[in-house]
Amino acid sequence: MVLTTVLAALLSITLADAAIPNAMLRGRPGLPQIPVPERSLTSADGTALPPITTVYYFNQLIDHTNPSLGTFQQRYWMDWEFYEAGGPIILMTPGETDADGYEGYLTNETVNGMIAQQQNGAAVLVEHRFFGYSNPYDNLTSQSLELLTIQQAIDDLLLTIQQAIDDLVYFAQNADLPMPGGDNVKPDTTPWILVGGSYSGALTSWTMVNKPGIFYAGYASSGVVEAITDYYGYFTPIREYMPQNCSSDVQAVIAYLDQMYDEGDAAGIQTLKEAFGLGDLIHDDDFASALQYNLFDWQSLQPDVGPGAMFFEFCDALEVKDGVNAPATGWGLENAIYSWGNFWNTTYYAYVCGDTDAETCLGTYNTTQSYWTDVTVNNANRSWFWMVCNQVGYYQVGPPEGQPAIVSRILQPIYEERQCVNMFPQKFATPPLPSVAEVDMMYEGWNVEVDRLFFANGLRDPWREATVSADGLYKSNTTTQPIYEGDGFHCSDLITDNGVVDATIYTVQMAGLEYMKTWLAEYN
Ligand SMILES: *[C@@H]1O[C@H](CO)[C@@H](O)[C@H](O)[C@H]1NC(C)=O
Ligand SMILES: *[C@@H]1O[C@H](CO)[C@@H](O)[C@H](O)[C@H]1NC(C)=O
Ligand SMILES: *[C@@H]1O[C@H](CO)[C@@H](O)[C@H](O)[C@H]1NC(C)=O
Ligand SMILES: *[C@@H]1O[C@H](CO)[C@@H](O)[C@H](O)[C@H]1NC(C)=O
Ligand SMILES: *[C@@H]1O[C@H](CO)[C@@H](O)[C@H](O)[C@H]1NC(C)=O
Ligand SMILES: *[C@@H]1O[C@H](CO)[C@@H](O)[C@H](O)[C@H]1NC(C)=O
Ligand SMILES: *[C@@H]1O[C@H](CO)[C@@H](O)[C@H](O)[C@H]1NC(C)=O
Repeated sequence: MVLTTVLAALLSITLADAAIPNAMLRGRPGLPQIPVPERSLTSADGTALPPITTVYYFNQLIDHTNPSLGTFQQRYWMDWEFYEAGGPIILMTPGETDADGYEGYLTNETVNGMIAQQQNGAAVLVEHRFFGYSNPYDNLTSQSLELLTIQQAIDDLLLTIQQAIDDLVYFAQNADLPMPGGDNVKPDTTPWILVGGSYSGALTSWTMVNKPGIFYAGYASSGVVEAITDYYGYFTPIREYMPQNCSSDVQAVIAYLDQMYDEGDAAGIQTLKEAFGLGDLIHDDDFASALQYNLFDWQSLQPDVGPGAMFFEFCDALEVKDGVNAPATGWGLENAIYSWGNFWNTTYYAYVCGDTDAETCLGTYNTTQSYWTDVTVNNANRSWFWMVCNQVGYYQVGPPEGQPAIVSRILQPIYEERQCVNMFPQKFATPPLPSVAEVDMMYEGWNVEVDRLFFANGLRDPWREATVSADGLYKSNTTTQPIYEGDGFHCSDLITDNGVVDATIYTVQMAGLEYMKTWLAEYN
């Protein structure tokens, strides 16, 4: 029920911002959104609470390495309906997004609220710096995203993982929360639990590694703890769990494209583009990237988002012919080109591009387009691009030779790195390499070993290969740092309803709650 609405919301977002020339952010990590609850809340003693959408402001340091720069207003929201004195504070940032709209994460419709309910805690949602309206400066230029001081060293940047970690710590240590007694619940006297999903799930792990002793316990859902430049692994769970006939046919078209590309068969590629109605798209890599869009639709799936979802509409278009399903090997190349192309012509182009022409909608070479030049705040794409280009990469590209490919090998990290220059020409003269090695060393990536951190992952999550449940990692699963995996998708376990739909997700949620209970019982 709830998630059907979520899907509708996601679809309408995509439709509204149709003219986006960029695939990179289509697969931005990010939490699933749930509707903002409309019911009024009351505290344990029956007092009416402010509406859940009430915005509070915290004076956050602009630069944790240079407090003399002063503060900015960081937005946060809170719900203390279950709170009783002595209870924990459950803190989450929704990460790389406008946090307004994520207020549902304060209630027991999510794991955050379930922990609050079980432990008589209060839930807080804090916006990440440079997202939404929590901005140190009033624009998103390179100049504002980093601090232009004499040093210009990497740790002087303003939008970095380290500043984001320091924000969470400084918030916990200094915020006087608006609830009764809320000025007296700092981490030295009160257990704080850090919850996160996706990038913010990674941030949960990274924070507990980097600043031990502040957050007593953590819950990281689909936490992409390992920064990876060449992140072709994004497509591995998709390839494995999508309908196999659909996977076979997509592989056939991609192999055909890549073969023509290797042979320099420009005329053949042009013919293929035209079958998709994309004959006017100039660059081959942009065409290869457009073909990825159908796969990125996988990311909005959740256990109860079934056949109506765009991803399944796509596979049905390829595999169902006159009411008959293709066998696991698919219908073969010729039919696949026709049916995939026809799907773009009849349905998908309008869905992605509206009435914008192909080069404007899907091209990445015209650097005067507003997508690259718009520096106004509350542009999650721009701020996330900054983090991707500088630190985390996660470039969703074709796999190495020898592996089955549902994404073209024309797409390599340089495709995205070139766009970093488009977006931040003042910062990057040439395509930058993200400092993933440094990130994985500083925050320990897959090697994380901290106390009382619960990892929850999903088998079908395209981000799983960057989590501690990556294939072949065999990360140890202990009672101080448990790892649970359900059959879900991205961050599925954070949403209470997903446990109702899928018993494996319920098991993950219950284990998380049980660990919180055990760990909090040991707090003194
Ligand atoms: C960010 O990019 C995504 C994917 O291309 C798009 O759906 C969204 O509308 C973009 N948002 C903005 C503010 O440009
Ligand atoms: C969730 O919280 C509401 C109060 O906001 C309560 O009425 C409801 O019973 C709770 N749900 C569960 C499953 O405990
Ligand atoms: C962006 O903000 C920075 C820092 O306040 C300021 O120096 C710069 O002039 C602004 N640029 C634009 C284009 O508004
Ligand atoms: C073939 O594709 C259809 C439509 O997407 C799907 O329902 C079916 O499960 C697939 N069958 C196989 C064997 O892959
Ligand atoms: C898609 O439309 C183009 C014209 O825009 C046409 O050339 C092409 O054949 C169509 N492809 C299919 C598969 O119908
Ligand atoms: C590039 O984009 C700008 C702004 O949208 C547009 O005016 C211009 O015509 C485009 N240039 C080309 C070569 O398409
Ligand atoms: C981790 O260990 C627990 C307890 O033995 C087990 O229930 C859980 O399934 C394990 N997780 C994984 C991913 O195997």
